[in-house]
Amino acid sequence: MNTHTFKALDPTVRDAFIKMNFIGESALFLRSLCQIEKAAKHDVAALLLGETGTGKELAARAIHYMGSRASHPFIPVNCGALPEDIFENELFGHAQGAYTDAKKSQSGLVAQAQGGTLFLDEIDALSLKSQVALLRFLQDHQFKPLGAQGYEDANVRLIAATNADLAALSVSGEFREDLYYRLNIMQITMPSLRERVDDLPLLADHLIRRFCVEYGEDERFLSVQCYTWMRQYSWPGNVRELENFLLRGFLESEGPSIIVPPPRQWEEANQQINISGMNWDTDYNEAKSLIIGAFEKSYLMHVLLKADGNVTRAARLAGKERRSLGKLIKKHGLREGEE
Ligand SMILES: Nc1ncnc2c1ncn2[C@@H]1O[C@H](COP(=O)(O)OP(=O)(O)OP(=O)(O)O)[C@@H](O)[C@H]1O
Ligand SMILES: [Mg+2]
Repeated sequence: MNTHTFKALDPTVRDAFIKMNFIGESALFLRSLCQIEKAAKHDVAALLLGETGTGKELAARAIHYMGSRASHPFIPVNCGALPEDIFENELFGHAQGAYTDAKKSQSGLVAQAQGGTLFLDEIDALSLKSQVALLRFLQDHQFKPLGAQGYEDANVRLIAATNADLAALSVSGEFREDLYYRLNIMQITMPSLRERVDDLPLLADHLIRRFCVEYGEDERFLSVQCYTWMRQYSWPGNVRELENFLLRGFLESEGPSIIVPPPRQWEEANQQINISGMNWDTDYNEAKSLIIGAFEKSYLMHVLLKADGNVTRAARLAGKERRSLGKLIKKHGLREGEE
């Protein structure tokens, strides 16, 4: 939508985004910035969606620091690191003597975030029991430390983030539907880097300038030839992956021009599927099976890369049965013994 341009944003808001290192001018990215700005203005629960490394935490911080709670704490919580048995203790704290080791009372993250924002990252990782506790808190704006007599009031904004399909998980029953609706008041999706490859030069410039400052080096730049593969690559780890690639190139290249080679797996997959380099002097069926084989291998590599090598997740992304994807993986020798 072309109304989502930087011009549609107030200049002070635009400056605030730049100060917070939000780099990008592509339409999808600007649409997210407009949504972030809106979420900053309205003090309600927000849900941030997007693949890993797309800037969800950056967005959560922006919503907090551009909003009315900015002078109060922003407390990030990684739900994936909070097992069910300590969730309530971490969030709500405990009273003295609440359990054997509770020698002193201790406040939880909700109390620490009082007046500010609690950022619940990887919200999909919460067990159903922890989801119930969170839902109760969201409904009542009150909480009871473990072993305490009474409830305490909380004035805390919740922002949740996930790279999972929370709507699908709520349909399948893995995530409580009522909690999903409570969190999903304002929904913001951070676009993948693949969807905004036009931002690559801006992002690369920004990151390399940062490295120059950090490592005390003079002006350096990314060699333009790198954009050829960078524009075609799928970037499963998004901006974080770009950051890592550029840093490696920055440290390994000599001279002002930085060369970043593509990942080896990607290069191999692309050589496989190079149609123009194919031998066409063969019969139709053989040509067809060659190209399909090449497609299968490239596709599998992409989806495995995106799923961090997890076959079950790769099968889900590909919309295929795990078993049949496993067979294909074995056929192409991508993983030993995969069925
Ligand atoms: N638009 C952007 N401009 C500049 N840097 C960005 C942008 N988006 C993300 N980054 C950088 O990429 C890295 C990853 O961002 P962040 O941690 O916010 O991602 P995330 O979506 O929370 O990832 P995960 O799901 O893995 O937790 C950070 O170093 C962040 O500063
Ligand atoms: Mg994150």
